[in-house]
Amino acid sequence: MATQTGLPLFVLGQGTDPHSEKGVDCPGELPEASDPGLVERARKAKAALGDRLFVLGHHYQRDEVIQFADVTGDSFKLAQQAAARPEAEYIVFCGVHFMAESADILTGDAQRVVLPDLAAGCSMADMATFDQVEDTWDALADAGLAEKVIPVTYMNSSADIKAFCGRNGGVVCTSSNARRALDWAFERGEKVLFLPDQHLGRNTAVLEMGISLEECVVWNPHRPNGGLTREQLDGAKMILWKGHCSVHGRFTADAVDDVRRRIPGVNVLVHPECRHEVVLKADYVGSTEYIIKKLEAAPAGSKWAIGTELNLVKRLGQMFPDKSVSFLDKTVCYCSTMNRIDLPHLVWALESLVLGEVVNQITVDADTTHWAKVALDRMLSLP
Ligand code: 13P
Ligand code: SF4
Repeated sequence: MATQTGLPLFVLGQGTDPHSEKGVDCPGELPEASDPGLVERARKAKAALGDRLFVLGHHYQRDEVIQFADVTGDSFKLAQQAAARPEAEYIVFCGVHFMAESADILTGDAQRVVLPDLAAGCSMADMATFDQVEDTWDALADAGLAEKVIPVTYMNSSADIKAFCGRNGGVVCTSSNARRALDWAFERGEKVLFLPDQHLGRNTAVLEMGISLEECVVWNPHRPNGGLTREQLDGAKMILWKGHCSVHGRFTADAVDDVRRRIPGVNVLVHPECRHEVVLKADYVGSTEYIIKKLEAAPAGSKWAIGTELNLVKRLGQMFPDKSVSFLDKTVCYCSTMNRIDLPHLVWALESLVLGEVVNQITVDADTTHWAKVALDRMLSLP
């Protein structure tokens, strides 16, 4: 079976019915997905709101939503763009919860950030809770190590984890600036506590900075002292949180071998949230924005197998019909939480704004905002 793009239609049934919780998050009427007037309704609502509205769309969003984004981007670009629109009264964030929180932190008090479906979370962000991180910091302090450790959190974390990093001399990073954030951190400390994605931390440290695998240890928040011995902690440069992306973590090294057998001459391009052994076997690694730019610059006729979220890979097939684009691993799924944002939820959010009702507003409290902004601003001013 193939999609319209010619890409194999491996896993279209994954995830939950986006309308199964109809009415739970949506006071008022959530339009039926089958309503043929949805595109027109979204257009009309957007036009009515004019410059008061700014719609941000992450690359993993569905096409039906992406068509209404004023700007599309990776998490870094979207954070920059949110910060650069002080005139927009409403920022509608087509992405996931941690992105909308970051937008609220980076925008002015009068600006309202809306996430069209509150169920659009991120399983990776949920793998590090504030209490767990505080307990970890206490354990590092008891071991006499906290002063030597700089906390660095991936953008894919909750606002209170970002605030924790701001308060404790740390920084936020994204997949497009992790190397620069780690350089910044190692100028200020001997070790890094990297939250919550062990793979991005390990891949950046080992492949870009010459840190050895032995110097990367994994802190398991469910075990006393992270499950690490004193010796392991003393020898570590990178203390990696035991978290991962449930989408990218599913790509395998075997899939890379298999695609090379099936498509001679294929270039394998993956996101750094993939496991280390996958990234080691790939030809190129980078953020979603990097992946798009790489395809843009590639010669016509070149062949690519991409290891990232399926909505983006399908779109790449449409954007670059002169190149052959395949999905790296047939067992990998859409990001089901990114997929929660669909056209009915977007129409509902926009039409509510037209009626003067701000639905699904994402707000971060003042203290968390202050400290999270410290860590985000450090990232935004990295060289
Ligand atoms: P980037 O947007 O930094 O490429 O990250 C991908 C991702 O998983 C977002 O949730
Ligand atoms: Fe979270 Fe992974 Fe989905 Fe990104 S792709 S939102 S990291 S689960």
